[in-house]
Amino acid sequence: MSRVFIIGAGFIGRAHAEAAALLGSAIHVADPSEAALQGFLDKFPEAAAFPDADKMLSIPAHEDDVVVVATPPVTHAPLAKRAFASGRHVLADKPLGFSLADGQEMLTAARSAGKRLGCASNRFLGYASTERARQIVQSGALGEIYHATVCHRRARMRSGIEYQPETRWFLDKSRSGGGVMMDWGVYDLTTFFHVLEPIKVEILQAWMRRPPTGADPTDVVFDVETHVGATLRVTTAAAETVIVDYERASASQGSERMIMEVDGLTRALRWDWIPWLKDGKADVAVREDEGGKAVEQIQTFDLSREQHFHHRPLNYFVRALQGEPVPALLHSRAVFGFAVVRGIYEVAQGSGPLTFELTDF
Ligand SMILES: NC(=O)c1ccc[n+]([C@@H]2O[C@H](COP(=O)([O-])OP(=O)(O)OC[C@H]3O[C@@H](n4cnc5c(N)ncnc54)[C@H](O)[C@@H]3O)[C@@H](O)[C@H]2O)c1
Repeated sequence: MSRVFIIGAGFIGRAHAEAAALLGSAIHVADPSEAALQGFLDKFPEAAAFPDADKMLSIPAHEDDVVVVATPPVTHAPLAKRAFASGRHVLADKPLGFSLADGQEMLTAARSAGKRLGCASNRFLGYASTERARQIVQSGALGEIYHATVCHRRARMRSGIEYQPETRWFLDKSRSGGGVMMDWGVYDLTTFFHVLEPIKVEILQAWMRRPPTGADPTDVVFDVETHVGATLRVTTAAAETVIVDYERASASQGSERMIMEVDGLTRALRWDWIPWLKDGKADVAVREDEGGKAVEQIQTFDLSREQHFHHRPLNYFVRALQGEPVPALLHSRAVFGFAVVRGIYEVAQGSGPLTFELTDF
């Protein structure tokens, strides 16, 4: 069984340790914060703990060792490159890196080390509802697909304020790389791309804003977006061209709305992909015409008994290394999706439309 080396003993490092324990892997952890390391050891007393990552990585590598990078995004690429240099596979938590250059450098380092690079923005893949949606889309049952809506607006759910309020780096662009797009947009696009399988994405327009609220902190840097939107033109492997209306908010003055929907000429498909929203129940709805009327058939899945989303990235990564057909997010696909995320920032800042192809990476 792979040995697991976790860099960062914070919130998500501990979730990866749970996944490692379920896999029966020996756990190593590095963090310069004594408090974080102690909190980790309270939960996983058998883990080998190190105050710095280089010391941990100097342990001679085994062929199937896995390093999990579970630190703030600005540190992902430098740590991943050191982990590859130590002769290990690397699973980076989301977002893959800080900048697109980071993502490309991580991929180059993986290729030159002959090791695998994975990204944990696949946390919501493998759930029955999303896999069913993927099956429906890939079967061609929708007819020609021409449009999709990916929208997830929360009124007040900002990481670092309403969620995990003690973790303020989420709010500081120089450490997080951005706000809700880096935090949640990565999941939206990874999940949507898993179903649609794009080979090319054009970002036609994009915008970002941070509507002020009475809970905005004034004692720390808070310069990240909380509301983002974009129009994408996506080309699928089946050569369909799909216009995607994308929107995500962790704070806006508007109403809450959640929809993931694909429009085909013959049928439309809508599905739930977040496992905790409806008591673990998730609908997959297919609408079609019957004698001039729009009728809907709904299949409901119980996601509450499925593997926890925080345990999936490491589980999939380790199983992918063993050749199992799991929805791991690896190499080109990981960097391609991240390129679109970073591209949305650039287009929102006025770069003009940008195009990314899977074969670019
Ligand atoms: N919090 C969540 O719910 C969540 C969920 C999924 C993914 N993530 C992602 O996981 C990553 C970490 O987030 P978190 O919430 O666990 O943050 P956190 O602040 O709780 O933990 C990060 C830890 O990394 C440590 N660290 C920083 N630099 C380091 C270095 N050079 N070497 C070793 N350790 C270092 C810090 O001391 C800290 O203990 C981020 O990329 C985040 O987007 C977080």
